[in-house]
Amino acid sequence: MLKIGVFDSGLGGLTVVQALKKVIQGAELFYIADTKNAPYGEKTSEQILQFSLDITQHFIETHQIDALIIACNTATSASIKILRERYPEMIIIGTEPGIKPAISQTSTGNIGVLATPTTLQGDKYQQLVNRLSTPKHITLYEQACPGLVEQIEKGALDTDKTKEMLMAWLHPMKKNNVDTIVLGCTHYPLASEVIQELMQDGVKLIHTGEAIAKHLLSLGEKSGHVNEGSLNIILYTTGSINTECMRSMLDMTETVHLISL
Ligand code: DGL
Repeated sequence: MLKIGVFDSGLGGLTVVQALKKVIQGAELFYIADTKNAPYGEKTSEQILQFSLDITQHFIETHQIDALIIACNTATSASIKILRERYPEMIIIGTEPGIKPAISQTSTGNIGVLATPTTLQGDKYQQLVNRLSTPKHITLYEQACPGLVEQIEKGALDTDKTKEMLMAWLHPMKKNNVDTIVLGCTHYPLASEVIQELMQDGVKLIHTGEAIAKHLLSLGEKSGHVNEGSLNIILYTTGSINTECMRSMLDMTETVHLISL
């Protein structure tokens, strides 16, 4: 049976697990919300690399995982290269801002990118933008959203403070006719409704959970996974988290286990 380890700094990675749930069967999925070290997006790359190495080591020792999903753009940027070098046999899939699907879906050519400060500052993001060698008619409006992850973790989405933060970040996008916004942090799909409400004119929001799930299915099947049966999900956290929210996002009733790494 395929054993999958998935991690993020908190609730955000569950937006990826929601997509995995729709595609992957006959597997065991272990999820770690590393809230003790959250938010990742305002830590240094060196710190995030260490958290990622510790979590991966734990997944291997405790659950003998075959596949690792880094359900976090920030941790992907800081650690995927080293993790792949260290564990060449393991399936390792990261999360990257969906610039490519946004380019194919925009009509105005003006695309917004919302992400954490660390993701936008990272080399990996720059390489992604360069690789897609952004065609001339495409303009990217990049915006770091410090503090948004904390508001989401607190369950404070529907508050004046969160709306004011988002309004200030989205204003330049609105003014410049942005019709597609890349949600470059796995927490941000949880704020989709508020973002849609503030942007009004039916902006397209891009996140990559579904693409990650399909990629895992294809790599898993190549290494012998048979996609039949149930998906068993076990949730862990390294610190305090809204466990009710975790369960309801996945429609589960099971206990969330507190672990230390
Ligand atoms: N969910 C993470 C991401 O995709 C970041 C959350 C955080 O800043 O802790 O980038």
